[in-house]
Amino acid sequence: MSEAIRFYYRGSEHAVSDASPNRTLLQYLREDLHACGTKEGCAEGDCGACTVVLAQLDNGELQTHAVNACIQLLPSVHGKAVFSVEDVAPPRCAGQERQLHPVQQALLECHGSQCGFCTPGFVMSLWALYLTHQAAQTRPTRAQICDALSGNLCRCTGYKPIIEAAVRMFELPAAEFPHQQWLATLQQLQQKLHASVAPDTCPSYSAQGQVFYWPQTLQQALQVRASTPQATILAGGTDVGLWVTKQLRDLNTLLYIGQIAQLQQIQTVDAMLEIGAAVNLNEAYHALCQHYPRELTEMWQRFASMPVRNAGTLGGNVANGSPIGDSMPWLIALGAQVRLQSVRGSRQLALEDFYLGYQQKDLQADELLTHILVPLPRPNWHWRTYKLAKRFDQDISAVCAAFALEIADGSILNARITFGGMAATPKRAMAAECALQGQAWDETTLNAACLALASDYAPLSDMRASQDYRRNTAQNLLRRFWLETRPHAPLTQEQINVFAQPHSGEIA
Ligand SMILES: Cc1cc2nc3c(=O)[nH]c(=O)nc-3n(C[C@H](O)[C@H](O)[C@H](O)COP(=O)(O)OP(=O)(O)OC[C@H]3O[C@@H](n4cnc5c(N)ncnc54)[C@H](O)[C@@H]3O)c2cc1C
Ligand code: FES
Ligand code: FES
Repeated sequence: MSEAIRFYYRGSEHAVSDASPNRTLLQYLREDLHACGTKEGCAEGDCGACTVVLAQLDNGELQTHAVNACIQLLPSVHGKAVFSVEDVAPPRCAGQERQLHPVQQALLECHGSQCGFCTPGFVMSLWALYLTHQAAQTRPTRAQICDALSGNLCRCTGYKPIIEAAVRMFELPAAEFPHQQWLATLQQLQQKLHASVAPDTCPSYSAQGQVFYWPQTLQQALQVRASTPQATILAGGTDVGLWVTKQLRDLNTLLYIGQIAQLQQIQTVDAMLEIGAAVNLNEAYHALCQHYPRELTEMWQRFASMPVRNAGTLGGNVANGSPIGDSMPWLIALGAQVRLQSVRGSRQLALEDFYLGYQQKDLQADELLTHILVPLPRPNWHWRTYKLAKRFDQDISAVCAAFALEIADGSILNARITFGGMAATPKRAMAAECALQGQAWDETTLNAACLALASDYAPLSDMRASQDYRRNTAQNLLRRFWLETRPHAPLTQEQINVFAQPHSGEIA
């Protein structure tokens, strides 16, 4: 039996039973609810004009985070609360002057808006930042402000006044968010949703000949996978959403894994960090950076933008398997594994064996990627990953590299090098690895490895970079790795990281 899509918006529960499961949250807000404060710019998660805040339960806690409404399929907000720019100002009381929220007041005082098209998106990203820091009773650093705004583009005001507003909003009289009230409301909604579904049935929504499955357990998801292998698996939708908005594809059957608690956990098992496939990118990188702060923090900051990382998952990045995805090079260099499950059982394989060719994966029609297993730090291993793109934030890699060496008694015992953007899949550099194996980690070995690297790949020229650029920078990145990890006088992070200056430092 088809359920309705149920969510809270502007204080009341909405039940949708006739919208196509391919309809985006943005389309629904603007065209059906006529809530036109939320804007559409790019319809692909790139500009932030459509930013809204979702509130949802996560392990019994209320979580609020900014996402791009333009690429969120409407059924994915089932059981959640949606907040748009219309929600931010306190309700107007009769006979009183209009009140603004500190986010709005600060933007006004700091002249943070000109044409105003981008402003609702900035307001929502700033509001999400405000809620997080109000709840924790902290103030954001400049780096945290820049990160929170990494998904918002402004073409006329410039970012300085907007960043100033982000500081100013915490100096104004505080506005409280009814946290406990929303926690209770969403708990009640969840109870109602669970009560309405027959036991052992996978809840689903159908309309206009299309079906959207919301499995609550891994078992339900695997059963749908077995019975309906043509269903498109949907995690955060930051790739799949664009198939709808940009490629205008009709996704007739969708299997959404975002409500399966078993796939949202991170745990340490046998010296591996086991990350569920539905863990979002921010949570996954946060956990990984606890173990690899030096190696992964910049990659975390530079992966897409805050709203994309709030929605998108590490599992989706791996399963999508784009040759220019940012997680696969370092995952492969570290020797990460993936676990695949079906009703027939479970298997585990090295991530590098998962990719068979361009957009081809070793994933059977009834299988689901359930976990990514990342080795924890091991003695004598040195590794780095680097992303080359035209912008610091919110850009796709032209070349993405990862280098890992095990060095003991002055010689290289193991070398693992992986590049993205250089071949049809994320691919190891076997010739360069051979040139490093058993050698001392010195400049002679480096030069031999750089020469060998030239024979490892035949990269393409495209809009992001030419073949020559890719070849040259691949060698330069290997040289950078050497400069950072050479036994004598390795360069410090400050000496190497040209981006460190504008993003560092406390504001207050
Ligand atoms: C504006 C923007 C910027 C981006 N920037 C970057 C970037 O800097 N670096 C980068 O690497 N990527 C980037 N991406 C791509 C995207 O955000 C990532 O690939 C993200 O990790 C995808 O995760 P998702 O949960 O949204 O996947 P989805 O879109 O839900 O799914 C992606 C693919 O994986 C499949 N899939 C998902 N989960 C599973 C599973 N458990 N088992 C089997 N198949 C599954 C889906 O069917 C689909 O084919 C960007 C995207 C946008 C829109
Ligand atoms: S409209 Fe540009 S990010 Fe959504
Ligand atoms: S104020 Fe015009 S785009 Fe930002």
